[in-house]
Amino acid sequence: MTCAQGSSSGKPPSESAVEMVHLVLPNHANQLGNLLGGQLMQWMDIAAALVAMRHAGKVCVTAAVDSISFLEPIRVGHIVHILASVNRAFRTSLEVGVKVFREDPINGTRTHAASAYLTFVAIDQYGKPLPVPPVCPQTAEEHRRYREAELRRQQRLAQRELLRQLRHETAKPDVPPAE
Ligand SMILES: CC(C)(COP(=O)(O)OP(=O)(O)OC[C@H]1O[C@@H](n2cnc3c(N)ncnc32)[C@H](O)[C@@H]1OP(=O)(O)O)[C@@H](O)C(=O)NCCC(=O)NCCS
Repeated sequence: MTCAQGSSSGKPPSESAVEMVHLVLPNHANQLGNLLGGQLMQWMDIAAALVAMRHAGKVCVTAAVDSISFLEPIRVGHIVHILASVNRAFRTSLEVGVKVFREDPINGTRTHAASAYLTFVAIDQYGKPLPVPPVCPQTAEEHRRYREAELRRQQRLAQRELLRQLRHETAKPDVPPAE
């Protein structure tokens, strides 16, 4: 990783971080006036994609979304703040953390309402993965996220490999098909 002082290749998370703000309207909600999970996921995906493309300086696609948690309902009339920043970059992929806050504009209270981790891959015009610059964490919080992102990646890749093996095993016919 090249994050030494004066190095030009690594970037701090603050350079690509975004905050997006939305007002929840009736067309974003279900019959009870609660924000639809799918609508929130779209907003989260877009915020995270902006971070990924800003950091990579390339077109990025969503490869995986994991650990998504909806903690509190968000209602029509609430303000949604979506904070997204890059946690760590690997070879061609990077992890973006997204935290959602619900704000009640009447009394000003702000509550943590949802979180997720999204993995993006930088690609060229033919869909071929391209290298991304390293992330250079600066603050204690950014260093914590950087360390934890590596653990999540290992779990993600191990699970992917396990599922691949399982599918390979179950695809083997025990009995040859009848002629
Ligand atoms: C994501 C995609 C480009 C990966 O292509 P691929 O041929 O599998 O590429 P590779 O196996 O070489 O992996 C490239 C990187 O992606 C990562 N990756 C691939 N699939 C992943 C997954 N499901 N979860 C996490 N990371 C993944 C790999 O770990 C690797 O990262 P690294 O280079 O940092 O180590 C390809 O699967 C794709 O185009 N998917 C569709 C993406 C899309 O359209 N998203 C929008 C939703 S419709």
